Order: sequence, then C-alpha cells, then structure tokens
Amino acid sequence: AANLDYDLSTPIDADAAGLRQKLPAYGDAHFSLFMRKLFIKAMGYSEDALSRPIVGIVNTYSSFNPCHANVPQLIEAVKRGVQLSGGLAIDFPTISLHESFAAPTSMFLRNLMSMDTEEMIRAQPVDSVVLIGGCDKTTPAQLMGGISANKPIIHLVTGPMMPGSFQGGRVGACTDCRSNWAKFRAGAMDIEDISALNEELAPTAGTCGVMGTASTMACLLVALGMMPIHAATPAAVSSARLRIAESTGSYAVQLAKTRLAPQTILTRDSFLNAITVLQAIGGSTNAVVHLMAIANRHPAVAGTITPATVDEIGRTTPLLVDLKPSGDNYMTDFHAAGGMPALLHELRPLLRLGALTVTGRTLGEELAAVPARRFGLALASGATVIRPLTDPLYPTSALVVFQRGNLAPGGAAVMKASASKDRRLLKHRGRAVVFDGPADLARRIDDAALDVDADSVLVLRGVGPVGNPGMPEAGLIPIPRKLAAQGVVDMLRISDGRMSGTAAGTIVLHVSPEGADPGSVLGVIRDGDVIVCDVEERLLSVEVDEAELRTRIEQRRRELERAGEAHWVTRQRERGYRGLYMREVNQAEHGADFLFLTAAGPGRAAGGGQ
Ligand code: FES
Ligand code: MG
Repeated sequence: AANLDYDLSTPIDADAAGLRQKLPAYGDAHFSLFMRKLFIKAMGYSEDALSRPIVGIVNTYSSFNPCHANVPQLIEAVKRGVQLSGGLAIDFPTISLHESFAAPTSMFLRNLMSMDTEEMIRAQPVDSVVLIGGCDKTTPAQLMGGISANKPIIHLVTGPMMPGSFQGGRVGACTDCRSNWAKFRAGAMDIEDISALNEELAPTAGTCGVMGTASTMACLLVALGMMPIHAATPAAVSSARLRIAESTGSYAVQLAKTRLAPQTILTRDSFLNAITVLQAIGGSTNAVVHLMAIANRHPAVAGTITPATVDEIGRTTPLLVDLKPSGDNYMTDFHAAGGMPALLHELRPLLRLGALTVTGRTLGEELAAVPARRFGLALASGATVIRPLTDPLYPTSALVVFQRGNLAPGGAAVMKASASKDRRLLKHRGRAVVFDGPADLARRIDDAALDVDADSVLVLRGVGPVGNPGMPEAGLIPIPRKLAAQGVVDMLRISDGRMSGTAAGTIVLHVSPEGADPGSVLGVIRDGDVIVCDVEERLLSVEVDEAELRTRIEQRRRELERAGEAHWVTRQRERGYRGLYMREVNQAEHGADFLFLTAAGPGRAAGGGQ
C-alpha cells in the first residue's frame, strides 16, 4: 500500500519527516517529507522500499586504494544482508586513504576523513551505517567520526591480502618489503632479485598481510565490540569475507531498530579490552595514537585512557600471536588458527567479558557462542600461530611506553620491544647522532664520513605532528650503509615521528613534546650527548644537566624568534587544511586529533598544551 503519511489529515511521524535527523526543512513537515521523497524516488525507490529502515553504507572505494579494491563486492554483499533482513541499503562515498598515495602522509588526512565521515553520517537520513574501511588510517578515522556523530554504526574491514611467494618462501607487505630492501642496501641482494620481489609483495587486493596497523586496527575493532568477532581476519579475496559482509548488513538492520549507538557500546572497559588485544598481538605502535584519538572523542571515556594505560595493561599481558613483524607468520595463518575468536578465548582471564558489542550481546556472550574447541591452533608445519597463555612468544609488554626521564615528559614515547632485533639495545647508553628532519637524514645517513658506530643512538627530530604536518612514518631510521655492510642490523633509534606497523627494530617513537616545540628537550639534543634508554625502567633520558638544558632551550627560543621561519612560529599564517592542521593538532599522547573535534573533557583540556 502506498505510504500516505504526508496526508495533511494525519499527524506525521517525526522520524519519517526527518525531524529527528534534523534534515533541512522545506516549510511544513509534510511538505519536507514530500520534497525529500520526490527526489529520492528519482533513484527508482518505491514507497515500500522507502518505508524500511535505511542502512547507509560508506563507500571508500578508490582506484588509488588497492587495500580497498574489493569494496564494490563488499557493498553488494552488505546490500544483500540488509535487504534479506528487511532494510533498504543506500551507499554513499567518503574520501579514501591509502598509505602510499596520500601525500604528505595518510595521517595528515586521517582527521579530515574523520570529519567527512562524521558530517556525512550526521547530514543524511540514515538509521544505521556500515563503515567499510581497511587501510591503516581509514578505520580509526571512521570510528572517530562515528563516535562523534553517535548514530548506530558497525564496522566492516576489507580484510588482509594473501601472501606472495619468492625464492621458495612466502613474502608479504610490508615487513618483507623493508627487510629485503635493507638486504639490498647492504649489498646482499642484487637489482634483478629486488625487482622480481616487487611483483610478489602485494599479490592480491586487501590490507597488508602482517600485523601492521591495518590488521591491528581490525583486531582492535573486534576487541572494542564495534565489529563482530569473526570479522577481523578473513582474507579480502575469500568467500568468508563476503559472508561477513552479508551478515554485517543484517546486523546493521538490527542496529537501525535498537538504535544502539557507539557512545553506548563503548566504555572504558571496551578500551581496556582493546589494549589487552593490542599487547597480545604485538600490534602496531600507530594503534596507540589512534586509540587515544578514538577514546578522546567519547565524552565518557576521554582522558581516562592514556598511553600509560597501554603500558600498565602490557605489564600483565603476554604476546601470543606469532605474526610478522614481531614473529614469523601472516594474517592468513592467524585466520587459519582461529583468528580473533581463538585469541579472545585464550585471553579470557584478562578480558572484561561484560563489555557490550555491536551485536547487542556482551563479549562474553559472543565468546560463549563460539566454542574454543573448534579451532586448530597449529599450522601444518607444526608452528603455533596463537600461543597459549602458558607459553607466550614474549612474556609481557610487547609495547612499552616510556614514562621517566627528560626525553619522556609527555608520556607518549612508545617502543615495540617485541620487535627489537638486538635485545642488548633494550638497556643501552650511547652517543647521539642527530638529524634535523628527513632531508638532513637522507643527505647524511650514508655519508662515509659520518661519525657513527654501532653503539651510537640515531636521533631524528622535526617529524612530529606540527614539525612535519602528519607526523610521517619516518621513525624507521635506516642503519648507516657503512654499518649495515659490516653486518649491523639494529641500532637504538629515537624520533618524534611514527613508524609503519610492519617495521621492526629497537625504535622509540612519538617523543613528545615534539622537536619543533620551542620548549622541547628533543629539540636541543646535540651530537655526542649521551642518551640512556632502559626499557625495564621505562626510562629515556639525555645525560645533560637541567641548567644546561634550560640554557640551550632559551638560546634556541631566541634563535627561532629571530629567524621567524620555524613551523611552530609560522603556523598561524598557513592557509587551508594545512593551516587548520598545524594550529589545531594535539600531541601524540592525545591522539594527534584536532582540539575542536575532541569531546569536552580532560582530553580536550589537556590537548596539545599549545
Ligand atoms: Fe593499506 Fe598497508 S598499505 S594496509
Ligand atoms: Mg602502515
């Protein structure tokens, strides 16, 4: 029967008129509905279709984004799920970010994507939304925007790519990109081999096939309760991925009816679960920044989750998942071993099982519905991808956060200790070799005359949120070629930048306040200063006395003001998004989000300190 609810004799339902959604009004409520219907009918929808719950599907397909190449098939499967459950699915685009094709960095655009996502969810008449993301910055951007918009959302990731093969072994983006490039730099691999390898590192659509940022965030979405528990690991090109998409559509219809919104689902407990999983998977250091940004969007959680929380949870959480870069295997192996349900079963004693999930059930109820015995925990080779709690890959603290010492005042500096290649460096003293930004690094790192040895500490500054807007993944400072040629594979490295989640080494990241801040200690370290790093003590310091540091900082402040060209000084004059970014971005410990996007709470008050 035709829907005649714009008949003037009947009172109009606030939802149908779009009043609850705050859609634009065209005169009276009946006329507003009449107008919107006539336009949407131009898409060919019937009155019957338009009377159903409307599920928006965020389409992040882009021909520049191979990690999202399967999005069209996923949308089709989500629509099937929505329609089988009695809803109407309507997809709409937002921007898409790929790690390699978003200059200057994808992180620079993460906050823009979160704003796009938030405002499009808010603007359009959707009852619930499926957020299709995958590549590193997309899922955090979508969750940040989704929490702020606070309409019912459910995540669907594109899924990991398959591994490739090379010279009898498996390879995958992008841990093997880096390790083989390092071999090539050291002269251990020739140009024909490195070129052949280029064809095999990303052999299918999907996100990087190791425990990089994309895989990490997919696992964290499950732990947070924002994605069903099976949905993190199926490969992008698998039929399982399409079935996950179909069931996501059906959950989205349920959400449209229950109106369960992210600020209701997510509590501090959800974040503690996410951090437990982050430590157990040896996840990406980037996830620490993203989790802070996500938590600080939530009015009831903001300020209660900090990098110190990540460290604290780490002290009692072992590393269980044996994936590159901390271990040896690929996401397809993690999936074959049972994926997230199997890991969560193993982690049961450490989890808050009462935390709610997007299905309307608690994490505990979800786990109870998936018996642990269904999983084969071993690979055919005999390797165990998901270790039991009693036999971990690394006892505790895969990710550590430095909290003591004059180089760790912001409490943001993080290291993936489990991915250290030379464990002696976890307690180390050495002379600083300082680089001012990526250009200086590129110019001098391979200079045969560079005064550096294997015990030196390589310091890179000027790659923080403001100093190099977007905080690039420059933290994996290469081993100077002359040392690499001598067989040096790891050195202690420190920066205010980030590092790809797929990279390994003894590397301290996210030092805050960043070097560009005129008051920072990082900004005044000089070549030859002695740096002390003690992971056990969470200590990161430069052995220069207080008075001398104060003198250096004052002197630098005067120089910066005289020169008048430093980023920190000129950011008020920058135009466009770059100007907005430089003026509003807060430091890593708050998530490198824009101050005006954070929830009104301690996270906002503390943001940036600028
Ligand atoms: Fe997209 Fe690695 S480049 S997940
Ligand atoms: Mg990455």
